[in-house]
Amino acid sequence: MKPYAIRKAHQNDVKTMHELLLQSAQKGLLLPRALIYLYVHIRNFYVAESRGGEIVACCALTPIWEELGEICSLVVRDDLRRQGLGRCLVNACINECGALHLKKIFALTYQKIFFLSLGFNVVEKDILPQKIWADCVNCPKYPDCDEIAVLLDISEKKDAQATSTV
Ligand SMILES: CC(C)(COP(=O)(O)OP(=O)(O)OC[C@H]1O[C@@H](n2cnc3c(N)ncnc32)[C@H](O)[C@@H]1OP(=O)(O)O)[C@@H](O)C(=O)NCCC(=O)NCCS
Repeated sequence: MKPYAIRKAHQNDVKTMHELLLQSAQKGLLLPRALIYLYVHIRNFYVAESRGGEIVACCALTPIWEELGEICSLVVRDDLRRQGLGRCLVNACINECGALHLKKIFALTYQKIFFLSLGFNVVEKDILPQKIWADCVNCPKYPDCDEIAVLLDISEKKDAQATSTV
């Protein structure tokens, strides 16, 4: 039996997700998410759960516009990195894109190598105006955001595998 399962998140996961995200947010690696945000958007999230029931990673797929989604709030507990959990969470999001009629997904990130390894390409932020209207204008970093925009065209990704366990 594999040690971690990837599944959709539920409300009981929120406090641990919040703590995981806060730890990386305090290091400036991602934006913090308020508890209320996580409860309201819980349907967007996947988590990685250990056999003992511990939540060790999470990731959200957020629809942004027609055919466009965003990977956000991705974090793996720091002692469990480089074991494939991040890849499995993003692949779970990619596998859901068909059901949501999303053809492209992007992320704003400092983790360029991670996303390139999953088939994303670096793009200019100005090809994502909907993200800027919806979120970026309210971000403390706007307009001097130093995150990198990466985009994946799902139709070009032939090797996204259904991965439910690590
Ligand atoms: C980014 C993050 C989610 C990656 O999760 P992970 O489980 O460690 O990543 P994976 O093990 O699935 O890595 C997949 C591939 O990405 C690349 N990669 C991941 N982390 C890397 C790093 N620190 N340096 C270089 N390459 C890296 C590697 O190619 C890796 O494959 P390999 O281990 O077979 O060489 C994790 O490092 C993290 O939580 N970081 C802090 C929060 C953060 O920055 N989130 C991103 C917000 S957009």
